[in-house]
Amino acid sequence: MDFAYRNGALCAEQVPLEEIAQRFGTPCFVYSRAAIERQYRAYAHALGDRKALVAYSVKANSNLAILALMTRLGAGFDIVSGGELARVLAAGGDPRRVLFSGIGKSEDEIEQALQAGILCLNVESEAELERVDAVATRIGKRAPIALRINPDIDAKTHPHIATGLRQSKFGVPHAEAERLYREAARRAHLEPVGIGCHIGSLLADPAPWIAAAERVVELADRIERGGIALRHIDVGGGIGIRYRDEPQRSIDEFVGGALRALGARRETLIVDPGRSIVGNAGALLTRVQYVKRGAARNFLVVDAAMNDLLRPALYDAWHEVRAVREPQAAAATAVYDVVGPICESADFLARDRALAARAGDLLAVMSAGAYGMSMSSNYNSRPRAAEVMVDGAGAHLVRRREAVPELFAGESIPAW
Ligand SMILES: Cc1ncc(COP(=O)(O)O)c(C=O)c1O
Repeated sequence: MDFAYRNGALCAEQVPLEEIAQRFGTPCFVYSRAAIERQYRAYAHALGDRKALVAYSVKANSNLAILALMTRLGAGFDIVSGGELARVLAAGGDPRRVLFSGIGKSEDEIEQALQAGILCLNVESEAELERVDAVATRIGKRAPIALRINPDIDAKTHPHIATGLRQSKFGVPHAEAERLYREAARRAHLEPVGIGCHIGSLLADPAPWIAAAERVVELADRIERGGIALRHIDVGGGIGIRYRDEPQRSIDEFVGGALRALGARRETLIVDPGRSIVGNAGALLTRVQYVKRGAARNFLVVDAAMNDLLRPALYDAWHEVRAVREPQAAAATAVYDVVGPICESADFLARDRALAARAGDLLAVMSAGAYGMSMSSNYNSRPRAAEVMVDGAGAHLVRRREAVPELFAGESIPAW
């Protein structure tokens, strides 16, 4: 197992987390290389020998070491900003395997993507289509584009991470797609190369995902009959992971459904997973500062906070909290809220957990590999955590802890 107790000590692969805390301090994100590779391979295996691309969704965790690992495994990338494109290129990623999603691409970002020679810009509105055409015309390029279709399908996930409903801000309405493809095909500086959708993140059930794939395939058929040949179909929607005890449907079940929806079509099938690659491959290591017994609740005040891991505050998300030293069966436990030092009542990492912790103990907040560091901030002027990649018996610092002076290095005081 990637995170398991060995001789009473919680380890990442073969490295005790205590050792990582001593070497690199806390709070600290710890990732398992083996776990990340296994998840990528689960996709590659499910896709078999079909013409396909696994485009890792950079937003889930954009550390260069993870992007470089993905590159070595043969992945492409799903990006949502010029910053993410720069990261992919810095990590040695191939721009010809990059898809650029997102509803608010700036002119600069579009130009940067076209100059880099990316695989495709996923266009999310008619206004954006106009802008891509204008930028491509100005710089004398032909922009490869796909429309992100809003399939109006309920992904049955948390409302903050559902993206495929009619009322959501994402994608082009299904009914407008054919007209926009015809329009794009008429323009000398636009080249329609694909079609895609994305219905949301943390999907538990493959049925809506497969239904979305079927809708997109049906639309691709109509577009093709209209004389526009596409090269890829991007079936988007983030497969869920187990944070607690959620029923787990396999990557095979999801991907198998998309493969059936595509049948014998010749287009490349693209999937763009993020969370299911890195989510369970990471933990946030934190140290208990104080045990605080309140009038109504007990608190473990730890040195990690909502600025490090926002998911509990943002979505009321549940993360397992494990003691780094394996608790003895007879140890007396109490029920605690695990909270950070930030001045917000929403600053909690876990609530109502039976733990036998004392000040100075280390805790691991599990399943923190996705939307942990990438959503972190400097709120309360807290430097961002270190990140460590474990590989067998080795532990590599892949991002050093931020230093306080870096927090205000870009600021200045006017000469009043
Ligand atoms: C276009 C797109 N691709 C990929 C993802 C990644 O989803 P997940 O991390 O759930 O796999 C998202 C997340 O919302 C997305 O909007």
